[in-house]
Amino acid sequence: MNNKLIVAISGASGFQLGFELLKSLKEKGIETHLIISDAAQKVRQYETKISDEELVKYADFTYKPEDIHTKICSSSFGVDGMVIIPCSMNTLGHIANGLEKNAITRAANNQLKSERKLILVLRETPLTLPQLKNMVKAKEAGCTILPAMMCHYIKPQSFNDMEKFIVGRTLELLDIEHEEYKRWDVYE
Ligand SMILES: Cc1cc2nc3c(=O)[nH]c(=O)nc-3n(C[C@H](O)[C@H](O)[C@H](O)COP(=O)(O)O)c2cc1C
Repeated sequence: MNNKLIVAISGASGFQLGFELLKSLKEKGIETHLIISDAAQKVRQYETKISDEELVKYADFTYKPEDIHTKICSSSFGVDGMVIIPCSMNTLGHIANGLEKNAITRAANNQLKSERKLILVLRETPLTLPQLKNMVKAKEAGCTILPAMMCHYIKPQSFNDMEKFIVGRTLELLDIEHEEYKRWDVYE
């Protein structure tokens, strides 16, 4: 069951990934609760031309990172899980160590507390030892680690093909059917 999801966009490169996931969830009629970190807003301006109006069109509900008093920050909020896409090393570090600095990390910790799905679509390269250790800690805490890595076997023709591959992998982990990319079949 995936009727309602929290989607967070943090300040790693790849704002478009979060936007593509939102579009896909909207198409599938899944209710989304969107939080965008302050750093992600800066990355959005730098990397994309996505306007506020466009974003709001694809999210059912939006929250500010400082909105730690809202319902999505309570573990009593009935939701099927959460995806942080892209997920910065900063946000990863907070989650891995049980720290809460904003509505994203608060909602994330609530998913872990409630044993719900929490997918971190990480983006950074190269990686420091503390960042690698934080990935292990986050995995041990119950997160799903999905690095936004390039894939050549899908024969991407554009950046968007690559983005759709990452979105497709995310949807698979949520048990949501999709046609974001063509799955591997050696006999085709
Ligand atoms: C253009 C740009 C690209 C960035 N790319 C990344 C990245 O790929 N991964 C990462 O962990 N941080 C990246 N950062 C740094 C984060 O934005 C920074 O660590 C920020 O504090 C993250 O805050 P947040 O976790 O609250 O979103 C980038 C910053 C800028 C301005």
